[in-house]
This record gives sequence, structure tokens and C-alpha cells, in this order.
Amino acid sequence: MTRVNASAAPGVHPHRMPIRWRSSLSVGIDSIDEQHKELIRRAAAFLRGLADRSRQDVGALLSYLRIYAVAHFGEEEEAMRASEYPGYERHKAQHDRFLRDLLALSKEQEKKHGAGVEPGQVGAWIEAWLGEHVSRTDAEMARYLVSRSSAGSPPAG
Ligand SMILES: [Fe+2]
Ligand SMILES: [Fe+2]
Repeated sequence: MTRVNASAAPGVHPHRMPIRWRSSLSVGIDSIDEQHKELIRRAAAFLRGLADRSRQDVGALLSYLRIYAVAHFGEEEEAMRASEYPGYERHKAQHDRFLRDLLALSKEQEKKHGAGVEPGQVGAWIEAWLGEHVSRTDAEMARYLVSRSSAGSPPAG
């Protein structure tokens, strides 16, 4: 991730409204929707923190987001394995990639003399990733899970 001057970069708005839950992000399974709401709350808190919090606070908000992402992805992966979802590998690869990138951000943030997290780019990346993953990849998984449970197999968990 290259560092740019956000205030000078066209199209980058570090103080724009952070990502928010919207009904178009619903995947049709309440428990997963609730987890996505929490994930988005934490992402929004992190992105707001980038604008006005100390470097240490931003690092803590990033960990707070990452911990929940690990737990949420784990639950989805468990449900996919339990239902023998054919798209499991591809879906898990997206989770793993996101967690790797978040971890790389955390490491950058913890470096005393590093560039730190660049708000405009990171904000755009997280919003795009969450929006895309939830509305496509998770929605596709949820359709399968719903079709499996209505076909008579017992619900996972
Ligand atoms: Fe998800
Ligand atoms: Fe997912």
C-alpha cells in the first residue's frame, strides 16, 4: 500500500461518512446479519478513529476490528463446512486475505517510525471489501445455507 497525501489526492475523502449497515447488505439469515452489523460498527469506529485519534488508539481499534473479524469468519467457515458448501475454499481464501491485510496494517501501525495507516486509502479499501464480500460472497453462501436447511437437514450449531 503506497502512501499518498490524502488531502491532495483527488477522489479521497478522509472525513466522509464511514461505512454503515444498510438493508441491501442483509443476507437473509438474522444471526449472520447481526454479526455483520457488529463488524461494520467496529470498522466504522476504526475509520472514525483514523481521523482524530492517537496512533496507539488507532492500533487498538484495529485490533478490536480484527478480533471480531476472526471470530465472525470462523463461524461462517464452520457453517460452510457443516453444510459441505461447494464454494468453501474460495470463500475462505477471501477471509484469509482480508485478515492478512489487516494484520499487515497493524504491524505498520505498530512500527515507531513507519508511515502508519493512511486514512483515505484504508477507508476506501475496508468499505469496498466489506461491501463486496457481504453483498456477494456472503449472500451466495447464505442462499445455500437457507436452501440446505429448508431441504430438511438440521440447522448447524
Ligand atoms: Fe460475513
Ligand atoms: Fe464471509
